[in-house]
Amino acid sequence: MPFKQEYFTLNNGHKIPAVAVIGTGTRWFKKEETESNFSHELVSQIKYALTLPGVIHIDAAEIYRTYPEVSQALKEAGRRRDEIFITDKYSTSLKLSENPVKGLDISLEKLGLDYVDLYLLHSPFVNEEQNGFTLEQAWKYMEEIYNSGKAKNIGVSNFAKEDLERILKIATIKPQVNQIEYSPFLQNQTPGIYKYCQEHDILLEAYAPLGPLQKRPTDARSDPFYKIVDKLAHKYDKSEALIILRWVSKRGVLPVTTSSKPSRIQDAQHLYDFDLTGVETEELTKAGLEHEPLRLYWTEQYSKFDSEAQKL
Ligand SMILES: NC(=O)c1ccc[n+]([C@@H]2O[C@H](COP(=O)([O-])OP(=O)(O)OC[C@H]3O[C@@H](n4cnc5c(N)ncnc54)[C@H](OP(=O)(O)O)[C@@H]3O)[C@@H](O)[C@H]2O)c1
Repeated sequence: MPFKQEYFTLNNGHKIPAVAVIGTGTRWFKKEETESNFSHELVSQIKYALTLPGVIHIDAAEIYRTYPEVSQALKEAGRRRDEIFITDKYSTSLKLSENPVKGLDISLEKLGLDYVDLYLLHSPFVNEEQNGFTLEQAWKYMEEIYNSGKAKNIGVSNFAKEDLERILKIATIKPQVNQIEYSPFLQNQTPGIYKYCQEHDILLEAYAPLGPLQKRPTDARSDPFYKIVDKLAHKYDKSEALIILRWVSKRGVLPVTTSSKPSRIQDAQHLYDFDLTGVETEELTKAGLEHEPLRLYWTEQYSKFDSEAQKL
């Protein structure tokens, strides 16, 4: 199979591999990090990803408690550091370390790395009482990290327009990325976020892009969205998952996926070996928008926006 490496360009001019193939949260997420719940399955999946061609984009976070697995896989795979792109996230709403600067030092130690490629504030739910610092101060810590070189790029996750506005008022370094839940059935995690990030040159990353497959309704056969996905899967001889991931990328959003199956990781790494036309992309966008919203994460905070999630 031919391999095509694609990148998005961030607002600081740096390149980011255009699909993250192995997220280490969701199905791998743990409530605590102990020796007995160490996941050998996750190690072997990351190691498998690290045998694939191109730069391997791994998505990690303090809250996932999977650094031991990532660290072991990196050591055993022995892949060149510049062929790996690692995203890490500072846990905000649940405080696990004193502040982002100290949190990243601990992560780097656990991961056995000198730097991460991208470091994110996991959510905007930060306040003085809970965290000991405000959202603006949290961003100042992130800038300190960027200037130290311990993170090559910095950004945020699950940020709404209002949260980004607060950051942009005090920022000397703009967030490079906002990682949000995004799929054909959730085209705006919070009101207007897609357009806002496009206009401000903040790259959106989509987690849970395969929501429509993870939660496929029983009447999917008669649903226009699934019919289009099925038609395109046949046309291009690709899986339904790849059709949806490619649609995400055609919307200018970087898909973050994961799987317990090596074949699916391989498929995702080869995402750019085929393309959808503009008309097909538009067809999926519209059919997705007509579907009722599907939100899998941060429902307590964001379900109130469901009625606006499918307005572009
Ligand atoms: N920033 C945040 O707040 C946040 C929140 C959630 C997630 N994330 C990140 O995003 C990563 C990916 O999230 P995600 O797991 O929700 O991504 P996803 O790509 O939407 O879903 C991956 C899941 O879909 C399943 N899948 C793959 N192909 C399928 C198909 N054809 N039909 C049905 N199911 C299929 C996989 O199962 P198999 O294992 O069986 O292949 C896997 O469990 C996470 O690991 C994490 O790193 C970030």
